[in-house]
Amino acid sequence: MKLYIETVGCQMNELDSELVVASLRKDGYELTSNVQEADTILFNTCSVRQHAEDKIYSALGRLKNAKQKHPDKVIGVLGCMAQKDQGSIFKRAPYVDLIVGPGQLHQVPDLVRDIRSQGLLRTQRMEISLGRKEGSREQIERSHESFDPLRDPAMRPTPYQAYVRIMIGCDKFCTYCIVPSVRGPEQSRPPGAILAEARQLASEGCQEITLLGQTVNSYKYAEGERTWRLSDLLAALHEIESLKRIKFVTNYPKDMTDDLLAAVRDLPKVSKYLHVPVQSGSNDILTRMKRGYNVEEYRDMLARIREWIPGVAVTSDFIVGFCGETDEDFQKTMDLVAESRFKNSFIFKYSERPGTKGADLYADDVPDEIKRQRNNDLLALQNEISEADNQAFLGQEVTVLVEGPSKTAERHGENGNAGEQVQLTGRTPCDRIVVFDGNRRQIGNFLPITIYDANAHTLFGEVVTRHVGPEVFELSLPMPAR
Ligand code: 5AD
Ligand code: SF4
Repeated sequence: MKLYIETVGCQMNELDSELVVASLRKDGYELTSNVQEADTILFNTCSVRQHAEDKIYSALGRLKNAKQKHPDKVIGVLGCMAQKDQGSIFKRAPYVDLIVGPGQLHQVPDLVRDIRSQGLLRTQRMEISLGRKEGSREQIERSHESFDPLRDPAMRPTPYQAYVRIMIGCDKFCTYCIVPSVRGPEQSRPPGAILAEARQLASEGCQEITLLGQTVNSYKYAEGERTWRLSDLLAALHEIESLKRIKFVTNYPKDMTDDLLAAVRDLPKVSKYLHVPVQSGSNDILTRMKRGYNVEEYRDMLARIREWIPGVAVTSDFIVGFCGETDEDFQKTMDLVAESRFKNSFIFKYSERPGTKGADLYADDVPDEIKRQRNNDLLALQNEISEADNQAFLGQEVTVLVEGPSKTAERHGENGNAGEQVQLTGRTPCDRIVVFDGNRRQIGNFLPITIYDANAHTLFGEVVTRHVGPEVFELSLPMPAR
């Protein structure tokens, strides 16, 4: 049987899809990238902005005819939009068989099997978690079960990189954000489970893991007398010998504690890269967003990060056009970007989310045209800064983990057989993307690269060769046995 799965949204969703695919493989499913030939079609959805939902509803719309012709196909909507829109998805797309929230994904194989066994006289099925007011904290927590043990290498960013969830949910309730209501209460995973999963991944050849949490640095797990924080987890993961690189996203500014900064500074395998979204440079807007800090506090935190971790790259997210954002507010955001020198920033136009405090309390009163203009202006400023910062790498040597063929090589179908020259990409320890010529055998290795060109998004370089005696050696760092 064939499974087609489409994933939108964040890395948490990519990981969820990996786990769903792994569990369906156990039921005999094979992945296909051709929706026509699929027996089961799943959409793993995102609710963070309206645009992400629109994309899914139009993809569902395109399946209407296919389902009429092949009523045996199973169509499922998974993830955040399933939890948010629930049964109304059946109203908009009556041919959907299955709706499963992000806290119930472990049920997908049983549900799909049930639906199939009923043939064409099937009933629609929906499994969602409790809402934030639909029970005690404990009941709600239990209804958001995470589901991590099964992994599927084919779904990873590359065979050498994997995501590991360390917490689920969020309790911060920023007023614009739907995440706390669709992904439920903040819950940290036991360190033992995380370490076991990381060891398993490392033994399968993963070089790099990225720890995931909505507010990953709020990680806290009490075990007897001891409370584990993210810094403790990083130190324990660092001991896994064949693991070479560790990253973590996304950080919450208020929880950027000194023990974490020390861990990032002192543990060589931890990327000197911190994604710490500020969202706005205006205190009025930050208050309305209920972010829990002001610009001065964020600035101090940034100074502390830079003082503790030389060479660190910091990135941020911004929302432009939040309710009541004036030209002066936006100018403050521009000023903050100008002075903060983020490696890059992800910039989003505010999208009102029904069910959030922001939607209840404030009018979405910034016209779309102005949101778009502010988005462009902020992006142009950030790009200038990113480019200038990348120029500083010219002539320098960096070490990259080689991830695979570059996008250009893939577009041209040059995937490269072993030994053949192909354009590759890799990342530096501070998460900068480097493009260079190499061969497939180098994928998954660490290589020294000299940088000769740079733009806002990419460094361009060549593999360093060292002349030793009459021969030329290509230098690559020791590889773990595999
Ligand atoms: N509208 C626009 N952007 C949003 N984000 C979260 N909620 C919204 C929203 N309602 C952005 C924030 C967050 C990123 C993942 O998405 O910047 O950090
Ligand atoms: Fe959303 Fe704020 Fe939680 Fe991030 S910290 S997931 S923006 S509520």
